[in-house]
Amino acid sequence: MKKKLALLLVAAMTVSSLVACGNSEAPAEEAAAPAEEAPAEEEAAPAEEAPAEEEAAPAADGEVVTVGFAQVGHESDWRAANTKNYQDTFSAENGYELSFVDCDNDHAVQIETVRGFIEQELDYICIAPIQSAGWDTVLQEAQDAGIPVLIVDRAVDAADTLYTTALGCDMVAEGEAAGNWLAEYLDGADANILVIEGSVGASATLGRTEGFNNIVAQNSNWKVLDSQSGDFTQAGGQEVMESFIKTYGAGNFNVVVCQNDNEAYGAMDAMDAAGITYGVDGDVQIISFDATHDGLQYTLDGKITCNVECNPLQAGFAEEVIKKLEAGEEVDKWTLVEDQAFVAPGIESQYAVTMSQEVLDGRAY
Ligand code: AHR
Repeated sequence: MKKKLALLLVAAMTVSSLVACGNSEAPAEEAAAPAEEAPAEEEAAPAEEAPAEEEAAPAADGEVVTVGFAQVGHESDWRAANTKNYQDTFSAENGYELSFVDCDNDHAVQIETVRGFIEQELDYICIAPIQSAGWDTVLQEAQDAGIPVLIVDRAVDAADTLYTTALGCDMVAEGEAAGNWLAEYLDGADANILVIEGSVGASATLGRTEGFNNIVAQNSNWKVLDSQSGDFTQAGGQEVMESFIKTYGAGNFNVVVCQNDNEAYGAMDAMDAAGITYGVDGDVQIISFDATHDGLQYTLDGKITCNVECNPLQAGFAEEVIKKLEAGEEVDKWTLVEDQAFVAPGIESQYAVTMSQEVLDGRAY
């Protein structure tokens, strides 16, 4: 435990501003209504913590900084890259002792994990919220204990006075980028759209859905036939796509929106099995999110037509906040992690970068 009083003062002085992009608004998903009620908090047992494997080297002032990270789970390639990025950044070598907990997509476990971090009196707590609702009580507990909380990757719908800072991608903007690209690509043609959403109640799902629907509303000849959760997993994407194919039948849809790459892989498997062609030369255009290495390989191959990035390399932003707090400096209330969209070769777009081998080779995740 270090400098708790000073940190509280710094937390109280945090300012609202946006860095890295010049945009001036916090992402709209913070205001989104919760999709589901939070499960009872008391019932959950904390997940097991990974033991610290090597002894942490002390920071410049001689003290090791202890950080708890309540991670969503291991549902996707994006998540694996995000986890690795945190583990590499908050390493013993860099002067940290990281308590990493994979919450396995269970909100109740995540709440109890944060409670465990509070009991251990860690210096900082990072939370990647599985769902946006249900955070007020435990955030208040962390604040009462004087532990700064960083909300990372996804958003919570709690008041921003309950945490120190938030950082991540703008999920609404990602959904709008996908919609704007589709409008440009279709150039007035009809769209019969199927959406495979992410996990229910996650701000990544709520934001991407809201953003895409904003553009659907501007196109009267677009129809969203159905929208179901694939839980951000490949198996979930495949299952939902199989059920869509049964319900709507081949030839009755021409766009499939998958809210992450893993779902897109599952959807492709389902369409392959049903003999439905997809990609730039096929009957169905696939839009995906994340733009991980494999997702971009499929984009380069013309199987995924548009892939909207969500950058998982976010730990550096969290470390920057922690370093500032350690130095007694003010921190921004919100930090945007920038991203961009990519389209298959042969497509020119004002909204996206055209894929090439060079872009793929430069991919770090
Ligand atoms: O919150 C980020 C989302 O969560 C990513 O798009 C998805 O792959 C992950 O599971």
